[in-house]
Amino acid sequence: MKIALDHPLFTRIASDLADHGWSHHTIFLPPALTQALATDCQRRAADGLLTPAATGRGIGAQVREGIRGDAIDWVEPGQSAPVDSWLTLMDCLRQSLNQSLYLGLEDFEGHFACYPQGGYYTRHLDRFNDDDRRVVSTVLYLNDAWLPEDGGQLRLYLPDQRVHDVVPTGGAFVAFMSGQVPHEVMPAMRERRSLTGWLRRRGELPL
Ligand code: OGA
Ligand code: MN
Repeated sequence: MKIALDHPLFTRIASDLADHGWSHHTIFLPPALTQALATDCQRRAADGLLTPAATGRGIGAQVREGIRGDAIDWVEPGQSAPVDSWLTLMDCLRQSLNQSLYLGLEDFEGHFACYPQGGYYTRHLDRFNDDDRRVVSTVLYLNDAWLPEDGGQLRLYLPDQRVHDVVPTGGAFVAFMSGQVPHEVMPAMRERRSLTGWLRRRGELPL
């Protein structure tokens, strides 16, 4: 799904990120694409492709703050038409943010995530101790008719003790600065699905 880099949606995300570090949209995609991604996620879960997520990677694994209960499956180009549409859209967002905010974003990595009933992810930042390439976090939600009593909000911790809660209803999208906005997934009372990803800059070469 190719979108003009100066599309109002992208300029709005850029100005939100620049002004306060996060941007929340309750309807981001054509419903048919959200539905196709939700079906893809469901199929992967049914096929047993989702594996419990770790915190941190390599030697730094477990060091990263945050305890999480989700299972994930990374998305790659060519896996399905809806995934390719999403990756193209995220690449347009990447280029648009580079043009407007000079973020030097190089690529996108993302995974489907499924929290079981009772699943949560404690407060954390999306940065590894040994890898600070993640600059902008993105989450697209894939759940039918989410109710307040279903819990599972994404809670963003903002300056001055304020919070912003994102209800994970299908089609909602949030982007935030990975290294600047602590956040938490509140316990979900029913299965909670999303497509989570990160726009990354080039890493330092190892010494
Ligand atoms: C994460 C995360 C938020 C969400 O995977 O790092 O914070 O709402 N996910 O699923
Ligand atoms: Mn996170």
